Amino acid sequence: MSKIRVAIVGVGNCASSLLQGLEFYKHTTDAARHKPVGLMHYDLAGYVPGDIEVACAFDIDSRKVNRPLEEACFAQPNNTVTIWRDLPAYGVTVDMGELHDGIAPHMSSYPADRTFLPATEKPVDIEKRLRESGAEVMLCYLPVGSQKAVERYARACLETGISLLNCMPVFIVSDEKWAAEFTARKIPVIGDDVKSQLGSTILHRTIMKLFADRGIKLKHTYQLNTGGNTDFLNMLDRSRLGSKRTSKTEAVQSNLPERMPDVDVHIGPSDYIAWQNDNKVCFLRIEGEGFAGIPIELELRMSVQDSPNSGGVVIDAIRCLKLARDRKIGGPLYSISAYTMKHPPRQIPDDIARDRVEKFITGELER
Ligand SMILES: NC(=O)c1ccc[n+]([C@@H]2O[C@H](COP(=O)([O-])OP(=O)(O)OC[C@H]3O[C@@H](n4cnc5c(N)ncnc54)[C@H](O)[C@@H]3O)[C@@H](O)[C@H]2O)c1
Repeated sequence: MSKIRVAIVGVGNCASSLLQGLEFYKHTTDAARHKPVGLMHYDLAGYVPGDIEVACAFDIDSRKVNRPLEEACFAQPNNTVTIWRDLPAYGVTVDMGELHDGIAPHMSSYPADRTFLPATEKPVDIEKRLRESGAEVMLCYLPVGSQKAVERYARACLETGISLLNCMPVFIVSDEKWAAEFTARKIPVIGDDVKSQLGSTILHRTIMKLFADRGIKLKHTYQLNTGGNTDFLNMLDRSRLGSKRTSKTEAVQSNLPERMPDVDVHIGPSDYIAWQNDNKVCFLRIEGEGFAGIPIELELRMSVQDSPNSGGVVIDAIRCLKLARDRKIGGPLYSISAYTMKHPPRQIPDDIARDRVEKFITGELER
């Protein structure tokens, strides 16, 4: 099969985990390929993880810009767990991107090893760089709240015909106007805000639906998350959180047969705890009433490594974008967006979305 060349925007923890995970799967033994652990498919319509190549990468941090990608992945403030230390020489030097609103003001009051340090270089010509690199898919891994920066890179996708895989919660693929532009230019896109493989969103969605399906009247729920990576540090600025809250809350509300009053649902990032590093802890509570109004309560605590948790999902989504490009399908891919994203253009229950993704892979379903 041909290779899938990706452009990375934001060489943070998620990008680092993804690249390390790709090496892990490239070195997977033949026996394990037939029973993969951690991926939906090892072989997705002929594409395997090893077919994904990095074409170029953009960042704005002085410890990453102008450095080989394999070194930038391990540069501070990245602090995710190491999956594969010996990354290959990609032949990619991290380019200076356009900063816009990528860094929140409060980030400057934290120690260098925990926060972003903006480089002073002049940004490269993004479209030129994308064209030269032969990238087909752009992975957007920018900090929450970077509305202008995400729009700038999305515009570059439209200008160059590159597919956007929007892993963060600025609404592009799920925004009608942006989606219409990608459809008009026949560019397949997936978004918005990646839903981790087994993270707080899919867990909360599933358990809430279980309560509803079993006839429990849902009264209240919360989902509080803590972590110690730059994603959590950035989200201490509540003004940047609007779309993240919407994305996470809608992911749960949209899966219920009947929406709960907004006041009874509290979902969102709650605090930054430096020593947790990339460990994310989710505290979830659901209160309801069962038979004859008798109360039922559930308390759950889940601990995950945050950034690797989205790697497998992204590897599947990249390959689905490539399939769509091979098949000359443009615009939002509804099934895989619903399966892999918290805020897709169309919310679909996860079991149905999975079934539709399988049909998309075989070609029975167009998108
Ligand atoms: N499982 C997960 O970790 C997960 C799940 C869902 C969504 N997300 C989202 O994915 C995004 C990336 O997460 P992360 O943990 O990798 O974040 P991160 O903070 O580790 O990385 C962000 C990177 O973007 C760079 N950056 C900032 N502004 C930029 C600009 N204008 N141009 C280019 N680069 C810029 C930073 O220097 C940094 O390297 C976040 O928005 C996060 O909320 C992550």
